Amino acid sequence: FGVSSQNHGPKDIAQQLEEQKKDIVIFWGSQSGTAERFAQRLARDCSQRFGLNVIVGDLSDYDPETISKIPETKFAIFLVSTYGEGDPSDNTTEFLDWVKKRSNSLSNLHYAAFGLGNSNYVYYNKVIDEIVQCLESLSAIALMPVGKADDADSSTEEDFISWKDDLFAMFHTRLGLEEHVPEYLPSIEVNEVSGAVETKPHLGTPQPLRLSRRAARDYSTIEQLSIIESRSLTPAASAGRNCLHLEVDLRSHPQLKYKTGDHLAVWPTNSEEEVRRILNVLGLMSKQAVEITILPAEREKNDIKIPGHSTISALFRHYLEISAPVSRDTITTLCQLAPSDMTKSFLQNLSKKSEYAAFIAHNHVTFARLLEHTLMQDPSASWTHLPLSFVIESLRPMTPRYYSISSSSMTSSRQMSITVAVSPAQLAGNPAVSVPGLTTSYLSTLRCGAAVASQAGLDDTPTPTVYAHVRRSTFKMPFLHKTPIVLIAAGTGIAPFRGFLLERAQMAQISNQEIGPVLLVFGCRNPDEDYLYRSEIEALQAGSLKGKLDIVTAFSRVSGQKKVYVQDRLAEVHIKEKITKLLCEDEGTMYFCGSTTMAKAAGRVVTSAVQEYKQVDEIEGKAWMNDMKRSRRWQEDVWG
Ligand code: 2AM
Repeated sequence: FGVSSQNHGPKDIAQQLEEQKKDIVIFWGSQSGTAERFAQRLARDCSQRFGLNVIVGDLSDYDPETISKIPETKFAIFLVSTYGEGDPSDNTTEFLDWVKKRSNSLSNLHYAAFGLGNSNYVYYNKVIDEIVQCLESLSAIALMPVGKADDADSSTEEDFISWKDDLFAMFHTRLGLEEHVPEYLPSIEVNEVSGAVETKPHLGTPQPLRLSRRAARDYSTIEQLSIIESRSLTPAASAGRNCLHLEVDLRSHPQLKYKTGDHLAVWPTNSEEEVRRILNVLGLMSKQAVEITILPAEREKNDIKIPGHSTISALFRHYLEISAPVSRDTITTLCQLAPSDMTKSFLQNLSKKSEYAAFIAHNHVTFARLLEHTLMQDPSASWTHLPLSFVIESLRPMTPRYYSISSSSMTSSRQMSITVAVSPAQLAGNPAVSVPGLTTSYLSTLRCGAAVASQAGLDDTPTPTVYAHVRRSTFKMPFLHKTPIVLIAAGTGIAPFRGFLLERAQMAQISNQEIGPVLLVFGCRNPDEDYLYRSEIEALQAGSLKGKLDIVTAFSRVSGQKKVYVQDRLAEVHIKEKITKLLCEDEGTMYFCGSTTMAKAAGRVVTSAVQEYKQVDEIEGKAWMNDMKRSRRWQEDVWG
C-alpha cells in the first residue's frame, strides 16, 4: 500500500490571488472527485461568462491560516463533500480542524458554499454545515445561502446546476457583474500525433488516482489481474438480474495484499456498442487508431485526469464515461456548437430544467445517444465537426467501481473473490427500458468469454484480465475470535460475510480455538432465486461452524407470502432476545452490509430492542449506538 501522493507544501492563497491577479478561489474538498470536477466546471463558467480570474484549489494544498488574509475585494467558494458518518474527505480534514479551532475574526472573508452529501445518511452534509457555522461565528460574510446536493435521489448534478444559477444571479445583483453568453473556449488542447514521439500511447492502463497523502495509504497500486473463474450464483437470469462470483488470481502480484472486509476497485471498459456509437456519430470511425495528445490549454495547470497520450478509440473505450447520462450543463454548451438552427432550438428547449428531467426519465440518453437523437430531428445535420476537446471536456473521466471482497485473506491470501450483482437500472418514466450497468456488463462479458473458451476446449484462449486496485476498509472482524458477531445483510451485502464465515470456520478447524457464536441475518427475494452462497453457508453450519452459526432468513418475494425484510425478522421477540444477549451480555460486535436504507431500518430495530432490554429511553438508546460505533462494535459497509 501507499502510492505516490500529489501533495505539495502548503501554499499561501492570499499571496497567490494577489500575485496572479485572480478574483476568486474555488476550494474543493473531495474524495471521489465530484466536488473537484464541479470546481473545475464552475471555474470555467466564472471565467468565460463573467470574465473572472479563478484559482481552483485543493483545500489541503493551502495553509488555512492564509485564507484569513484574502482581502474583501476577492472571495472564496467552498465545494465540499460529506461521507459516511458525517466524515470530511481527507483533503478537508486539516481545514475543518483549523476553522473549528480558530477564534480570530474572519470578517474580511467573503464566501459562498456548496455541500455534497446523501440524505440516506444521518449526518447529511454535516461537513459544509460545520464549515458555514464556524465561518458565520467568525463573522465571515456569506454572499448567499449555502447550497446542498443530495445524492440519495441522484440529483447531485441538478442540485449543483441550480445552485450555480443562483450564484450567477448573485454575481449580477450583488456584485454588478454582467453575464456574457460565452463562445466555446477549450480548456484543453488535443492534437493528433504526427511523427515519432517519446512516449507510448496509453491503451487501457488506468491513469492512477491522485490521492492525498493520507488516502494513499489505503490504496494499493493498480494491477492487471486475471479472472480465473466466473460463475453465476443465481439460476438462469430473471428479468436481466444475475449475480456473479469472480475469482481473481493474485499469485503473480506478491506485492498486492488484502484483508478480509477490504474492497476491490475495478476499472471498467465501455461496451463496444457504445464505443462504436460515439465514434460513429462524431465521424471518427476511420480515425480510431490515430494517436492523440491532450494538454491543458494553460500549460501550468496539470489537472487532466486522463492520459496525455492515447488513441481515439482507447480514449472512448477506457478513459471517458461515455455510458453515463448526459448532463444539462453539457446540453447548454452544446447549443452553441449545434450544426443547424433546428438542432440548436431542440437543444435549447432540452436545456430547461423541467424538459431535461422529463427527457432523461423517459430516454436512455448518453452523450452519443443525444447526438443521435438530434440527427433524427434534423437528418441533414452532422456532428462530425464537433471539437474533440469539447467532447473530452464534456465526458467525465472513467472512475473505478468498488466491490466488497467476498473471500477471506486468511484462508485464501493469493486468490480473492468478489460478488457482483448484475441488475440493469430502469428508467423512472419508462420501466420497460432497462439501462445496463457499465461495470457489471463489463464483468459479465468477461465471464462469457471465459465460459465460451472453456466450452470450446480452447486452452490457449487468454484468461480475461481486469485493471483493479485494493482499497483498505475499516470493516473488520473483531480482534478476538471468541467475540460473538451478528451479521446483517441483504442481497450482495452477504459478500464480506462469506469471508467472515470462512475465517471463523478456519479458526475453529486449525487451532481448535474457542470461537464465538455467529448470528447471520440474511435477506433476499426468494430462496430459490438469490439466496447467495446458500449451500456453502449451510455446509459450514453443518461442518466447522456446527453449533456456532445461527442463520435467520427473510424473503421478500415468495409468491403467496407476505414480504419479509431483515428488519422484520429482527423485530421478532426470540430474535431480539438473541441479539440483545449477544450484544449486551456477551459483548458481541455487529455488522451491516447492503443498502443504506436496509442498514438504517435494521439498525433502528436493533437499537430499540436494546432500549427495551436495558429499559432506557430513545436518547440513551442513541447514546448506546454511538458508543458501539465509536468502539468499532457497530460497523457498516453500505451503499446506495
Ligand atoms: P425487494 O424484494 O423489496 O426488492 C436484496 O435486494 C433484498 O433486500 C431483497 O429481498 C429486497 O427486497 C430487500 N430490500 C429492499 N429494500 C430493502 C430495505 N429498505 N430494507 C431491507 N431489505 C430491503
